[in-house]
Order: sequence, then structure tokens, then C-alpha cells
Amino acid sequence: MNRDFDILWLDEIDSTNNELKRQISTIDNMSVIAARNQYAGRGQRGNKWNAAPGENLTFSIIIRPGKDGIQKIEAKEQFLLSQITTLSVYSALTDFGIEAKIKWPNDIYVRNKKICGILIENFIEGNSVAASIIGIGLNVNQRIFDPQLMNPTSMSLLKNTKFELNECLSSILKHFSGFLYNTSSVSAEYIEKMYRRNEYHKFVDCIDNVEFTGKITGISPVGFLTVEMPDKTERQFGFKEIAYIL
Ligand code: BTN
Repeated sequence: MNRDFDILWLDEIDSTNNELKRQISTIDNMSVIAARNQYAGRGQRGNKWNAAPGENLTFSIIIRPGKDGIQKIEAKEQFLLSQITTLSVYSALTDFGIEAKIKWPNDIYVRNKKICGILIENFIEGNSVAASIIGIGLNVNQRIFDPQLMNPTSMSLLKNTKFELNECLSSILKHFSGFLYNTSSVSAEYIEKMYRRNEYHKFVDCIDNVEFTGKITGISPVGFLTVEMPDKTERQFGFKEIAYIL
């Protein structure tokens, strides 16, 4: 039987990912913790995630693959969780009339601006993902951002109206459940919705710190970014091995 989400709203917490981690041994599968304010929100690469209190969605979901009808996910297939999550946010934004793109691996962009960041922390046992804590920060009603942030945007800035946080959350969770319980189209849909796919752009090879031009073609079976070079050879990049030039 597919399981429903259990949603808990907190007024304030350091980080919803941290809170689920603290409760990991006791909390139910498919629990969601959402916070009106995170005072130590965490982003990728050890960065902070700052969101104006009460204006945005900052929440985390815990799932246990192999339980409650969720398929087993091997450690080498864990990119599937990024695909499910990014597609859920993408689809929710579509519900609200916003045309987004998925910026590999885990960001959601509208044109050249970031609207959502995702932090996934997987707990591997043997060869499988035993649990995954999936943190989502979606800019909803915030209209003024720290000028040091490179290129933020929000639903409200894009549509010039206010959104109900609970409606946005419900839409994301509805799509999340749909993709989680039927993953057959996930990989193809992810590739189709990728930011800058099939266009030549400039990137930085972060291993040699060299700029190059290439065309994103998709992802490899383990979730590496595949890029076609001007001489038609293909290169693959892992997380932290390539940076986009925006
Ligand atoms: C990024 O750097 O783009 C990822 C940002 C992830 C932010 C979300 S907000 C809810 C959850 N709790 C956290 O501390 N981080 C994630």
C-alpha cells in the first residue's frame, strides 16, 4: 500500500534536514518536517541556506526505500532520488504557471535564476539506500534577497502575486508521491527538462580549472553529466567537477 505523508510544521528549527536526522531511528517513513523559520539552514557544498522567515518553503522528507511500497534503491542508483525530487518541484511550479528547468544535479532554475535548492542526504546500508532525507528550499513569497546571492528569484517575483505555502507544499508532495511510486518515466523526463540541454554553453572544468565550450546531452546511468564537445567527443562530469558559467 502506498503511504501518505505525515506533515509537521514547526515555527523554528536549525534545519529541517538536521531535525529529521535527529529523529531518524524513530520517525515514520514519509514524514515531512516543514519550518516557518530555519536559523541554520544548510545548502550544498557546506553553504548556508537563508530564507526570510514565513515567506518560503523550507522542508524535508524522509523516505525509506524498500518499505511501504517504495521500490528498493541500490546505492549506485541513488541519483533517482534527485530526479524524483527535482521533477516534483518542476511539476509543482508548472501547476502554478511557472516554466522552470532542472539544473543538474539538483537545482531548479527559471531562465538564469535559481528558485529552488535541494539537499539530499542518503544513508546507505550494504548496497542499498536505507533512508534518504530530502531537503527542499523553494523561494515562494520572498521578493528581496541578499545582494550577495548570485541570481535568486521567487514564485512571487515571477508571477507578481502571493502564494499559499501549504498549497505549494501539497502540490510538491502530490507530484513526489506520483514519481516515487511510479519511476518508469523519471529518467527520461529529467533529461527532457534539463537546463541548457542540447545547446552549446561555456563551462569550467573544476579539476583543471579550465574554461571550455560544450553541449549538455543528458546524464549517465549513475547520474554524471554528459557533455558533447565541439569535436563530438563525449565527456562525463561528476558533482563538483564542472561549473556552469551563467
Ligand atoms: C542548495 O544549496 O541549493 C540546497 C539548499 C537546500 C535547502 C533546504 S531548506 C530545507 C532543508 N533544510 C536545510 O537545512 N536545507 C534544506
